[in-house]
Amino acid sequence: MSTLSSTQPQAAITAVGHFLPERRLTNTDLEQMVETSDEWIQSRTGIKERRILDDDDKATAYMASKAAQELIDTHDIDPATIDLIIVATVTPDMIFPATACLVQDQIGASSAWGFDLSAACSGFLFALTNGASFIESGRAERVLVIGADTMSSITDYSDRSTCILFGDAAGAVLLEPSTTYGLQDTVHHADGAHADLLQLPAGGSLRPASHDTVDAGDHYLKQDGRPVFRHAVTGMSDVCTDIMERNDLSGNDVDYLVPHQANQRIIDSTAKRMGLSADKVMMNIDRYGNTTAATVPLCLYDWQHELRPGHNLVLTTFGGGLTWGASYLTWAYDGSTYADDAPA
Ligand code: ACO
Repeated sequence: MSTLSSTQPQAAITAVGHFLPERRLTNTDLEQMVETSDEWIQSRTGIKERRILDDDDKATAYMASKAAQELIDTHDIDPATIDLIIVATVTPDMIFPATACLVQDQIGASSAWGFDLSAACSGFLFALTNGASFIESGRAERVLVIGADTMSSITDYSDRSTCILFGDAAGAVLLEPSTTYGLQDTVHHADGAHADLLQLPAGGSLRPASHDTVDAGDHYLKQDGRPVFRHAVTGMSDVCTDIMERNDLSGNDVDYLVPHQANQRIIDSTAKRMGLSADKVMMNIDRYGNTTAATVPLCLYDWQHELRPGHNLVLTTFGGGLTWGASYLTWAYDGSTYADDAPA
């Protein structure tokens, strides 16, 4: 857990960008692939469609670079002034080099260094805290924090319990020092005792790729959905109420909840415990599904035009690890001048 000392600069989000692949995979499409129904998927998860990157020559670094480039273009940022790039992802283009290095080259961030961060669906929140620490300590002035995942590359499209959930996307934010607004507090957790509930079993150093791992389908994500659901409902609600209590925030004080988009029922239950009405909850799971590290910055992008300086935001995630957390930040800029191109 961490709170900010009064002498440190705050790390404020000063720009947002996103990328969504064009191809849509609808629930009706999935009905042709596995035994499922639009009604089951919508009622159990809230998802209607997700996006799929279906170009064999492109992957996570491409989407991450596109999101970063949009941020650079719309906010008129000189890429040479970016000090650090952190990419949260569980689907890097390859184990190494880091996706962040590929992004650094693709966007022309000639002075930046960078690294990847792996925390599944909590990746963006953990990366945001990391990036903020560099600003708060004075070690960096401009940090690009990106959440990007090509979940279609690790999804088994014959497994109805997982293939209905995931989509591909990227979201990016820029962090800069501020004397007024920014990241106020974070509460993050990890519990490796439940690592087996949600994992990619093969392809790491324990079980490198072999004919056996391929034949067993162990390069696909595996999830035991029911216990993960139970842990997520408790974990996200607990961590959000915890951060509200630590900062003396009531439901009335919170302008927006920015939750990881894994399941609408998990989000509804978290919002209820925080005392928030639906209009204060950023939700786009119906359009994009679970894009792992990209969900939170995608929400920020979609709601950017509604955000004003001083708005209180609580960001929260839950994912494989298990990992979960919440961050409280005050918004730093008037988003009304930026395009509202989110579909209705
Ligand atoms: N279509 C129709 N029926 C299905 C489908 C499907 N796509 N998938 C499962 N079912 C069936 C099951 O076989 C089961 O049938 P049974 O009762 O005859 O055995 C029944 O529906 C209920 O299955 P559950 O798994 O209990 O369904 P549940 O209501 O739990 O919903 C879900 C499944 C959506 C996966 C839910 O458990 C969930 O959201 N879990 C949490 C996901 C999450 O938060 N993950 C963390 C982030 S992801 C990351 O970090 C990468």
